[in-house]
Formats: sequence, structure tokens, C-alpha cells
Amino acid sequence: MMLLERYKKFLPITENTPMVTLHEGNTPLIRARNIEEYLELKDVQIYLKFEGMNPTGSFKDRGMVMAIAKAVEKGAKCTICASTGNTAASAAAYSARVGMQSVVLIPEGKIALGKLAQAVIYGAKVVQIKGNFDRCLEIVKELSENYPFELVNSLNPFRLEGQKTAAFEIVDVLGRAPDYHFIPVGNAGNITAYWMGYTQYHREGISPNLPKMMGFQAEGAAPIVRGRKIENPETVATAIRIGNPASWEKAVRARDESGGVIDTVTDEEILNAQRLIASLEGIFCEPASAASVAGIFKYRKIFRRGDIVVATLTGHGLKDPNVILKSVKEPVVVEPSVDDVLEAIGWK
Ligand code: F0G
Repeated sequence: MMLLERYKKFLPITENTPMVTLHEGNTPLIRARNIEEYLELKDVQIYLKFEGMNPTGSFKDRGMVMAIAKAVEKGAKCTICASTGNTAASAAAYSARVGMQSVVLIPEGKIALGKLAQAVIYGAKVVQIKGNFDRCLEIVKELSENYPFELVNSLNPFRLEGQKTAAFEIVDVLGRAPDYHFIPVGNAGNITAYWMGYTQYHREGISPNLPKMMGFQAEGAAPIVRGRKIENPETVATAIRIGNPASWEKAVRARDESGGVIDTVTDEEILNAQRLIASLEGIFCEPASAASVAGIFKYRKIFRRGDIVVATLTGHGLKDPNVILKSVKEPVVVEPSVDDVLEAIGWK
């Protein structure tokens, strides 16, 4: 069933809200037994919530479908957002779906190739800013206050409402919340949304427990961990290259209310986790997504027998092929012969 329909009674949906859909949500929760074994964990279950399986390849579609439905409801004609790439792709796709124009502002040269291609092909007006994501966000805020643009960044409360459904799905599958939920933190909307979802299901009596929220920022872009804005954030995980997150206080509240942590992982740990998720489990996520699993590696000592651990893989690896080819050797080229192939793969 489509997302808005399935979770209608938990969402701000009225009889005038159109049931927009590209069949987002209902993403797989995949048991990662090889990672459990690799970490030598006994009787600890790790699950990966693979949000790369959404229509535009990231978790953003959950919040975007809700925000766009509400924009249609109020008669908006044009959406606008700042983005490190995924929000732009999602806003462009859902705007196209309902016949609206979209405008997206992105930091020049700092978004993954696949995401840029998506925004362009879905028909967004794409503007590259000579500045970082934080500057893009300031500009779209000002534009949406003074012009008839519907802001679809997570400052739009309907975004977080839609995104909380990922927590619902996890509880619907496991019959309870996990003990720990690991998640990357950029603009800090998603960690906030998951906590909203988990606490709502808990209040409703659907989940008997609540997880500890474990958020991870890239070391060079970790304003929440450092407790101050970062002027020039840097990380290979361009999706979370953010120095002044919009949902900063809400994320801190989610951390503290849940008894969790927000910590850093290095670019090296991120790329290593990305490679291990792919080579051990057959799941290809983008670098920012792997920050959650890098967090599991970093905190492996805290788990106890019987613990259930979930990590969100926020986006698909195909969005950012360049990052792989930069860090891995290009495959060898040989003459077209059986012998040469056998030699190349070390069978001769
Ligand atoms: N992972 C991916 C793949 C993302 O694209 C983002 C955010 C995050 C994690 C962090 O989530 O911002 O809710 O803390 N991407 C935004 C964008 C900023 O513009 O696409 P967050």
C-alpha cells in the first residue's frame, strides 16, 4: 500500500490531501549476518534499513511525498529547496509528478553526479551556488519568505512527518523498536524524524520500548559533536557536508531523551564501512549512509546478548560512482583471450 495511505491516521492528512505516490517507503529491513560475524558478535542482531530502494534512491522520498501532497493541497505552484543532492532529486521528482515547477540550489561542484543528473532530468531549475549547503539553505529560506515558493527542506514540518514512517516500518517488522538505532546526521532532520516515529508508536502502545538514537557526523563536518557551527565543512560524504544543521536542537533532544549519542566517524571509516557493507552483504549504499555502520563498528563493544541493532542506509550507492572509482584501482585490461583472463584473475 502507498505510504500516505498506509500511515494515514498517524499523518497530517485531511480529506483535501491528495494521495500522491511513486510507491515510496516499504523498504527492506535486511539482516546483516555477515557483518555480525565479522564483528564477532554473539546473539546480537544487526539489521540494515535500505532506504536506497525508494523511488529516487534515498529516504528523502518519504518526507517529500508528504510535503508535496500538502503543497498541492494549499495550491502551491513551485517548490524550492537547498540540497546536498538527495533532497533536490526527490523534490524534483515529486514536483514533476504533481505538475509543479521545482527550483533547487546546490553547492557548486559538491554534489554526487547521479543526484545532479536526477535533478536535471526530472525538470528542476538547478542553480549551483558558489558556497556550501548552509549558504544555499539561507538563500532559499529568504526566497520562500518573500516569493511564492513552497519550501520543501526539512524546515517544512511535513517533511519530518513523512520521514518518521521509516521508524513505523521497522517496528511493524520487528514487533518492537530496536535497542539501538544508528543513523547518519547531516541537517539533522532524519534522526529527529525517527525519534518522532518511535515515540509516537510507543505512546500509541504499538512499540513496547524505545531505542537509543546513535547519530554519526563526518569528522570534518561535525557541528553538533563540536558544539559550534563549522564554517567550512569537509567530508568525502558530500550528502552530510553540513556545518549548521537546521534541526540541531531537535537532534540533541532526540539524543538526550533516548539516552543515545551523536559522535563522529572519519572519512576513512566511512569508506571502509561502505566497502564492507557491499562486499559482505551485497548492499551498495552511498558514503553518507555508511556513516551509520561505521558508527556500529566504532561502538561494537557496547552491545549485549539479545540486543537488536538497526542502521539506516539512507541512499543508494549508484548515486555516487565517482567516489568508488577514486578510491579503488580501475580493473585490469587484457588481450581478449582465455589465457589472459585466467592470468588476470590469478588462476594461472
Ligand atoms: N544520508 C544521505 C544520503 C543524505 O542525503 C542526507 C541528507 C543524510 C544522510 C543526512 O540526513 O540531513 O536528515 O540529517 N541530505 C540532505 C540533502 C541534506 O540535501 O539531500 P539529515
